[in-house]
Amino acid sequence: MFIRYSDELIEEIRINNDIVDVVSEYVRLEKRGKNYFGLCPFHREKTPSFSVEDVKQIFYCFGCGKGGNVFQFITLAEKIDFIDAVRHLADRAKIELPESDDAEEVARARQKQQVSEINLLAARYYNDVFNSDKGTVARDYLKRRDISVSTAKKFGLGYSPDQWDSLYEHLKASGSNDELMLKSGLIQKSAKGQLYDRFRGRLMFPIFDVRGLVIGFGGRVLDDSLPKYMNSPETVVYNKGKHLYALNFAKNADSEKLVVVEGYMDVISLYQSGINNVVASLGTALTESQGRLLKKYAQEIVISYDSDKAGQAATQRGLDLLNSIGCNVKVLTVPDGKDPDGFIRKSGPDSFKRLIEGSLTLIEYKIRVLRQGHDLSTTDGKIAFLNKAALVLAKVDNAVEREMYIKKLSAEYEISEEAMLSEVLRRTRRSSASSGKSLKIANAVEAARKSAAPVDEVQEKILQSERFILSLLCVDNSIYPVLKEHFKVNEITGDENKRIAQIIYTKLNERKDFTPAELMNVVSSQEAGEFARVLKEECHCDDNSKAVLGKIKEIGILKAERRQKQVLELLRNTENLSKGDVDKLKLELRDLILKIKNMKDMPI
Ligand code: GTP
Ligand code: MN
Repeated sequence: MFIRYSDELIEEIRINNDIVDVVSEYVRLEKRGKNYFGLCPFHREKTPSFSVEDVKQIFYCFGCGKGGNVFQFITLAEKIDFIDAVRHLADRAKIELPESDDAEEVARARQKQQVSEINLLAARYYNDVFNSDKGTVARDYLKRRDISVSTAKKFGLGYSPDQWDSLYEHLKASGSNDELMLKSGLIQKSAKGQLYDRFRGRLMFPIFDVRGLVIGFGGRVLDDSLPKYMNSPETVVYNKGKHLYALNFAKNADSEKLVVVEGYMDVISLYQSGINNVVASLGTALTESQGRLLKKYAQEIVISYDSDKAGQAATQRGLDLLNSIGCNVKVLTVPDGKDPDGFIRKSGPDSFKRLIEGSLTLIEYKIRVLRQGHDLSTTDGKIAFLNKAALVLAKVDNAVEREMYIKKLSAEYEISEEAMLSEVLRRTRRSSASSGKSLKIANAVEAARKSAAPVDEVQEKILQSERFILSLLCVDNSIYPVLKEHFKVNEITGDENKRIAQIIYTKLNERKDFTPAELMNVVSSQEAGEFARVLKEECHCDDNSKAVLGKIKEIGILKAERRQKQVLELLRNTENLSKGDVDKLKLELRDLILKIKNMKDMPI
């Protein structure tokens, strides 16, 4: 269905995407010896066990066992398949890929490209109008909101004239066709079949994707009329749940935090005040894709939504979502019911920075919300509140953290720490008792699984040794002659290993080299981590030929011993065997015993 890119092309793309550079776009790396270390993006951890090796161009996490080359990294980090990772990195390295032979795919890619072009034309047009006489109303409006000319320029703001079809006419004059204009969502069709502009008389905010391409627009009225905002509909290039406004700027901010606000104007206003680690979710509830995007670019996410009911509900949902995908998340509440824009204009950037610093953890926020739901002036209200708070605290795993919250809470509400602690502990025990039960069930299931399908340990050892040999061959191509002779493709046990060996041998036969990272191009995604581990942990020998010969011998012994066991088993029950068969088996057994002894006696 899809075009299969040549091995050479895949290698060219890989070589042009240095793994340290690529991973650094996702993970903060620190150099230690010849490795780089950082916090693993694929599992939750507090101390770095995720390593990237410059020389071999591979990564491996000692914590979760994920590993591979730059392609596998992208498949995991972007949650895409191998081919899309190849495309992604080709794009990053500006390497042109041959067109797919899948007509549908080609058509779709072409359409995306064309709609992007229309978006860009439209952004330029709106911006030109904004800067012309017609745009005076929009410029005056922004002036009233204290947005400077240079900020407006930075965000590419524009104005859509208050006419029915000015953009339509402009696009037509630029050579766009009607069908594509409709696809872009910027042009609509009336019941009578007339084409007209979606946005009229609005301040225009181009929406960029992470790379800075215009994918859609938001448009705000300049007065109090409704709807206040209109946005581009979903198109081939715009999916509102997958993007965050201003992430293209915020990702370059020098901060580990990203602040998430609701609106365009909040982002722009904060940005103008020098706070540039801000993005907007544009009035929709945060989606999981947005969550992952945030996680990718920030160590800590600070949600700053309106403090009204709707905003609070959105905050809760956002918190739970981000927490569930492993983000470190906090909540910033702007005082006096203001939005961030209103606050910063009144109190200045330093006050807002203090709000960021003082943002609440998930637990603190949950308790704050609980408190608002209870009347603390009554004893009943206070008791009910503290009981619920204890339940929240009981869910905090870390004892030190839990104690800290208890201290805070008991001081704030004037109850003894001991009383609070005992309430929390009572609830902790209950919840850990039930988790103990689920652990037992998990153990039982695991045991059942093992007994139902006993893993052949010998087979696994053989496969493992084969992986070691193939890995070492990629680290040191000079041992190829030894392997060609003593480790022939058709003698390899694992089908996967056989396939891989075939590829490597073919290449080395042509006197080309073959690197560990290249090995990662051809291993299956299930085994990538295992190969990465071997490359990382085991491929450091003084004498590589000796090392592989040792492994080959090990494999030989394992296989012979396994066969010896089988033969013994067969001979234990000879009723169903003919005399001839029994003799044959006895002969084989004698040979095996001798063979094993010889192999064990051999110097390597
Ligand atoms: P200002 O009112 O100009 O300060 O804009 P704002 O960005 O602060 O907007 P607000 O806080 O009212 O809303 C947050 C975001 O929700 C906006 O930036 C829009 O993306 C979105 N939004 C608000 N009102 C509407 C609406 O009427 N329709 C749509 N589709 N989206 C809206
Ligand atoms: Mn606002």
